[in-house]
Amino acid sequence: MRTSNQKRNLTLLVAFAIIVVICMIALFFLLSRTSGDQEYEEVEQEMKDPLSANYDSFDLDDSPANQQIKYGYELFTKTAQYIGPENGRNKAYSGNNLACNNCHLDAGTKPYSGMLIGVINRFPQYRGREDKTGSIEERINGCMERSMNGEALAEDGKEMKAFVSYLKWLNRYAPEDGKVEGVGYTQIEIPSRPVDLKKGEKLFVAKCVACHGPEGKGVSLNNLPGYLYPPLWGEDSYNNGAGMARVITAAQFMKTNMPFGVSFENPLLTDEECYDIAGYINQQPRPVKKELEKDFPDLKRKPVSAPYPPYADTFSVKQHQIGPFQPIMDFYKEKYGITKTK
Ligand code: HEC
Ligand code: HEC
Repeated sequence: MRTSNQKRNLTLLVAFAIIVVICMIALFFLLSRTSGDQEYEEVEQEMKDPLSANYDSFDLDDSPANQQIKYGYELFTKTAQYIGPENGRNKAYSGNNLACNNCHLDAGTKPYSGMLIGVINRFPQYRGREDKTGSIEERINGCMERSMNGEALAEDGKEMKAFVSYLKWLNRYAPEDGKVEGVGYTQIEIPSRPVDLKKGEKLFVAKCVACHGPEGKGVSLNNLPGYLYPPLWGEDSYNNGAGMARVITAAQFMKTNMPFGVSFENPLLTDEECYDIAGYINQQPRPVKKELEKDFPDLKRKPVSAPYPPYADTFSVKQHQIGPFQPIMDFYKEKYGITKTK
């Protein structure tokens, strides 16, 4: 009797233990599934490559925050329609009919085209042009006043807020320092000679005229402000205070972006060709920015290819426009210990 009772108790105990274990296993799975999913998502976000993330704002729903991002994208890609001189809405902030997208390609996501992924984390930033630490809003206004040949946007206005929202969205997978591969432009080997304007013109005719036109005026959109192919000079182009007006910057841009369709991996023009074409284009007439003498309060910080005086050296304005740049760079290195790259 005792043994069979003991046996029964033992069986019950074992059965009970098995049930408890099964319950615990079930509970464990249930818990680990939910928290595991969360963990997985977090890991996925952390590992998301900023360059291969989805930046198509059309995929966002219409929450108020997302509407601001979408408006930022619209402004960025169709700038002239919203804030250009012919927009018809009494909001003419830009002075030409360019779009931000004309220089910051693929809505700011193409590597080596002044790519803006991560740009929020790169600001506030010290800027030599103003000799102070500037905000992202001030940097956007830098392009408004120069690349767009227009006026600054109000920092708390609808347009500026939309631009910043869009750039914040492009920033969402960027590392803390904002340094993503493809930021800025590629480096090119700068020839030790001046720009060959004749060669530049020939190359321009051979490689650029098909889209940008024989007089560099570009091709406008039908019935809408803006361009199918933007102008490279003339009164509707960037002004002489713009980054693109510097030969070295323009040549770096062209290397990985022009003719349209090339990339960092698949360029078409040689460094020398970019240098000559950039020099030729930037010798053509374009809007002149006022008060450029106020730029670079510390003149030593001025890029060597900034095409307008004054300078902290005695090289001619012409040499600052078409080179050779090496002697100017050597001068700053020897005299001030400053290494110049543009
Ligand atoms: C004509 C070409 C051009 C157009 C149009 C243009 N930009 Fe730029 N942008 C540049 C260049 C060139 C630079 C880099 C200048 C430099 O190296 O100093 C730049 C730099 C910037 C930067 C800082 C990037 C960084 O990595 O630090 C921001 C932000 C920016 N632009 C926003 C805009 C916005 C917004 C618009 C439209 C309102 C615009 N840009 C239109 C040429 C252009
Ligand atoms: C197949 C057409 C095509 C060819 C050829 C072409 N471009 Fe462009 N270019 C474009 C387009 C389109 C844009 C604007 C990019 C955008 O909005 O996506 C542009 C933009 C530019 C810009 C910046 C915006 C501006 O107006 O200042 C420069 C500078 C430029 N091109 C220079 C050149 C040079 C130099 C060549 C010849 C080596 C060249 N392009 C050949 C289509 C072309």
